[in-house]
Amino acid sequence: MSKNIKNIAVLTSGGDSPGMNACIRAVARAAIYENVNVFGVIDGFNGLIDDNFIELSYHTVSNIISRGGTILGTERSPRFLDKSYRQQAFNNLKQKNIDAIIVIGGDGSYKGMKVLGDEFGINFIGIPGTIDNDIYGSNYSIGFDTALNNIIEAVDKIRDTAASHHRIFLVEVMGNTSGVLALNTAIASGAEDVFIPERKEDLMIFENKIKAALKAKKSSIIIVSEGDQLGGAKELYHYLAKKDLQHKVRVSVLGHLQRGGAPSFKDRMMATQFGARAVEMILNGEVNQLIGTKAGEIYAYDIQENTTKKIPKDMGALKLVKKLSVY
Ligand code: F6P
Repeated sequence: MSKNIKNIAVLTSGGDSPGMNACIRAVARAAIYENVNVFGVIDGFNGLIDDNFIELSYHTVSNIISRGGTILGTERSPRFLDKSYRQQAFNNLKQKNIDAIIVIGGDGSYKGMKVLGDEFGINFIGIPGTIDNDIYGSNYSIGFDTALNNIIEAVDKIRDTAASHHRIFLVEVMGNTSGVLALNTAIASGAEDVFIPERKEDLMIFENKIKAALKAKKSSIIIVSEGDQLGGAKELYHYLAKKDLQHKVRVSVLGHLQRGGAPSFKDRMMATQFGARAVEMILNGEVNQLIGTKAGEIYAYDIQENTTKKIPKDMGALKLVKKLSVY
């Protein structure tokens, strides 16, 4: 174990995700257990720039494991793109003698962390924390399971009213440029179709399916990723409206409720294990790596230039949705 680790920092960055607090708690408690000081950085990279740190004590992180969001706050930090602000961030870290920083976030956060490491030699560990679950090299990111449970619960409610009125519902989910959230939602909610950014659908075929469903007075749930080919569910609705199909079609954009609420068992477990592992790696001198899961195991790997995960080329999940859906 590296005896000269005295101070570490932890921050949350990008879109918040349920489980981030469980991760912050694990980092803090694991560090305190090893007699290492731990500082929370307020509002992501902005806190680094503005020297906005709080020391985390055993009690600061009490009763947060079950809370959604992040007690540290999070921000997207355009200022961090400017080297003068990164220099300011580096100066603040050095002034506090921070030996390593743990960043809990998504691919954008990883990119910022890598630049800081390359330019100023700051040691870091990346922990995947985004409901999008689109991080290269890891099968899981904190928040994904809770977000999916939020979404499935909402879609089940929508299905009740869709069936009563024989309507087609276009349900928009988050995911940014990744369709991972939408595909998992479509399978688990029994959706009739799904639109994802990674695939351009034949809209004529889709239109004919909708017409057939309406003729059969069927109700249908179509999951639409916010980054799909048309730009989301409202745009798809306007396309159908031009075909005079709007009378039985409705749109439900789930929005930010997908990211709220108490983290699920899985997110608490993954977040806790990720956080404790990050502290262990720093003490062992294993830094400038990302933590993730592969084949059900937690492991560490080097950061790549491209930090975004791609959907498997065979589109197996998409084919499964199409196979099981009877319009
Ligand atoms: O990256 C997580 C995420 O929820 C994306 O799915 C979504 O597009 C984005 O954040 C929304 O960002 P904001 O909360 O800044 O509107």
